[in-house]
Amino acid sequence: MIERILPPAAVVAESFTDPAGLTLFPEEEKLVANAVDKRRREFTTVRHCARRALGELGIAPVPIVSGERGAPIWPAEVVGSMTHCDGYRAAVLGRVTQFATLGVDAEPHAPLPEGVLDAIALPAERTRIAALTAADPATCWDRLLFSAKESVYKAWFPLTARWLDFAEADIVIDAAGTFVARLLVPGPVLGGAPVTSFHGRFLVDRGLVVTAISIPAVAG
Ligand SMILES: CC(C)(COP(=O)(O)OP(=O)(O)OC[C@H]1O[C@@H](n2cnc3c(N)ncnc32)[C@H](O)[C@@H]1OP(=O)(O)O)[C@@H](O)C(=O)NCCC(=O)NCCS
Repeated sequence: MIERILPPAAVVAESFTDPAGLTLFPEEEKLVANAVDKRRREFTTVRHCARRALGELGIAPVPIVSGERGAPIWPAEVVGSMTHCDGYRAAVLGRVTQFATLGVDAEPHAPLPEGVLDAIALPAERTRIAALTAADPATCWDRLLFSAKESVYKAWFPLTARWLDFAEADIVIDAAGTFVARLLVPGPVLGGAPVTSFHGRFLVDRGLVVTAISIPAVAG
């Protein structure tokens, strides 16, 4: 499903269930030794997805542990991003020769809990969400904004190794299926030019909101 909002060079592996019998590497086992069952299942299935994607890229299965601030550590030749929510797990990978970064997020297609939009959205974003909701009340635009922000953070972090607050990107959603996140803080520099915005795509399907950002590698 998520491949619909990513360039063809991105390798996608996703799952709508937690298949029985999946195993982890010992390094990964350590990370979920004390985790509740739900966390263990999502962690295991998404790593299985990631190894499928690595396999498609011709890369042998390796442990995928969490590094700084929870970011996954990938083999040197790839960038990637993972997401999991109820009923969905996905790993998206690409070669460093093709992508500078990837960021993906999935959420249940349901309104955000009371108070969350106020906590994560800028005033201008709230105004735009209200307008989108008035035009299309069947879509949970507040949840979509949240997911877009999570994708922005997951794409941002591997480039910067820095925190990005919810108020530090101003996201404009185009109901046709895209969004632009304007960075309100200095962004990473790619190929000598500062990155000032991230462009993403979204889809709403199968009871899920899914967002994705991919930034191409800079030649040279
Ligand atoms: C880290 C975060 C983005 C995860 O998003 P989420 O919707 O809670 O959960 P998801 O299931 O979609 O994603 C979890 C996966 O994100 C990845 N992830 C975690 N931290 C990450 C980071 N710093 N950078 C990149 N990816 C990260 C991991 O692969 C994780 O799965 P794993 O723990 O099994 O390895 C979120 O919890 C968070 O901390 N957000 C605050 C920062 C933010 O969103 N700022 C907004 C900027 S506009």
